[in-house]
Amino acid sequence: MQIIIDSTAKCVNQAAEHFYALLRRKPDAVLGLATGSTPEALYGRLIAQYEAGYISFRQVTTFNLDEYVGLAGDHPQSYRHFMQEKLFDHVDIDPKRTHVPDGLHTTPENAADYDKMIGAAGGIDLLLLGIGANGHIGFNEPGSSFDTLTHIADLDESTRQANARFFASPEEVPAQAVTMGIHTIMQARSIILMAFGANKAQAVAAAVTGPVSSDVPASVLRLHPDVTIYADDEAAAGIKV
Ligand code: PGA
Repeated sequence: MQIIIDSTAKCVNQAAEHFYALLRRKPDAVLGLATGSTPEALYGRLIAQYEAGYISFRQVTTFNLDEYVGLAGDHPQSYRHFMQEKLFDHVDIDPKRTHVPDGLHTTPENAADYDKMIGAAGGIDLLLLGIGANGHIGFNEPGSSFDTLTHIADLDESTRQANARFFASPEEVPAQAVTMGIHTIMQARSIILMAFGANKAQAVAAAVTGPVSSDVPASVLRLHPDVTIYADDEAAAGIKV
């Protein structure tokens, strides 16, 4: 695991370089993508690189980590909507190659079909992750087993509260999400985790220096051969010497 600690802006630039390098080397790469506040600036950089003619998404395939159960793709708080607005609508990606779990039709029985789709596309080359203040990755909350495929997960109350800022009222935050499982995440060939802000410091410290344990789902990444963590100075406060 490589840990880069820098200003937020430099972390974003360096993470964007990973995508740039991959897309130059492998124009038909399969990307795993995340939503939330953390990746927004990175998507802005990718759009800028596309507009400048440095990269193209024409042959790229994407799989997002998760989606709220019960929200249609055109719901303003759905992660499909977020991805359209923050990235897909601004680049030359083929809409048919963009995948976000289906928040309306996924059932416990068919959720793992998403893993089959990822496999059929050749597996994820580079997966982008955020981290929850409680150490979650995707919506794999503390206590999630490490061997899960894509499934329907209950959101922690703390996660619902953290995400309430995007909704008109906290009660509107869905109680469940379809999420890639930890096994799904660990099968990506390469992983970037970005963590920004003081409210992530405890989770980053626990993930990086604590025991590898399902109590801190992000700690599983220590078992992966190719992970880079970009933590800004605030998020790295608990691991800086
Ligand atoms: P955030 O969410 O980027 O909005 O902080 C990250 C996460 O919960 O994984």
